[in-house]
Amino acid sequence: MGNIGFHKEQGHLLLWKYLDVLVSGRSGLRIFFPLCGKAVEMKWLADMGHTVVGVEVSKQALKEFFSEHSLPYCEEPVPEISGAKKLQSTSGNISLYCCSIYDLSSYVSLMITLMEKNSYLLVTVSYDPNKHKGPPFYVPESEIKSLFRDCCEIKCLQKVDDFSEKHRQWD
Ligand SMILES: C[S@@+](CC[C@H](N)C(=O)[O-])C[C@H]1O[C@@H](n2cnc3c(N)ncnc32)[C@H](O)[C@@H]1O
Repeated sequence: MGNIGFHKEQGHLLLWKYLDVLVSGRSGLRIFFPLCGKAVEMKWLADMGHTVVGVEVSKQALKEFFSEHSLPYCEEPVPEISGAKKLQSTSGNISLYCCSIYDLSSYVSLMITLMEKNSYLLVTVSYDPNKHKGPPFYVPESEIKSLFRDCCEIKCLQKVDDFSEKHRQWD
């Protein structure tokens, strides 16, 4: 399978760490993964009894997700969105839409709608954008505030130094 810079084979440590904050004791949640790629966390959360909905433009990533976890799935068109496909696990608890998230709605307004009385765990990366153009892309704190402050209570759970050997080439 492809060597993808952003994909974490072991999942994201911060999602593990803050899962209780996000789930907050609730069971059977419907959890949305925007730009999901083949994120392994979708399988963990489905295995915990939650329902997962993802959106990803790359069909290859979605097919790899199902094949790498040996999950049978079926594929069907989404009549409301031209060209879009829904890949759903046969067990029904993972539905991944293959289309651009902008086909659903604009990204931030979509997240805000989905967040009513809910939580959104957002992980961003910060570095000197003059030295590296991404991906992963630089998202300054000021942008998060300007996009979300009117509708959400924004809490910074943690800041971590996530730089590793592979980032040294960014200087
Ligand atoms: C940073 S990666 C996240 C991948 C995922 N967390 C994983 O572990 O594989 C961003 C993903 O968003 C997808 N993507 C980019 N623009 C998109 C769009 N407009 N609509 C849906 N997916 C998009 C890319 O194909 C890529 O897989």
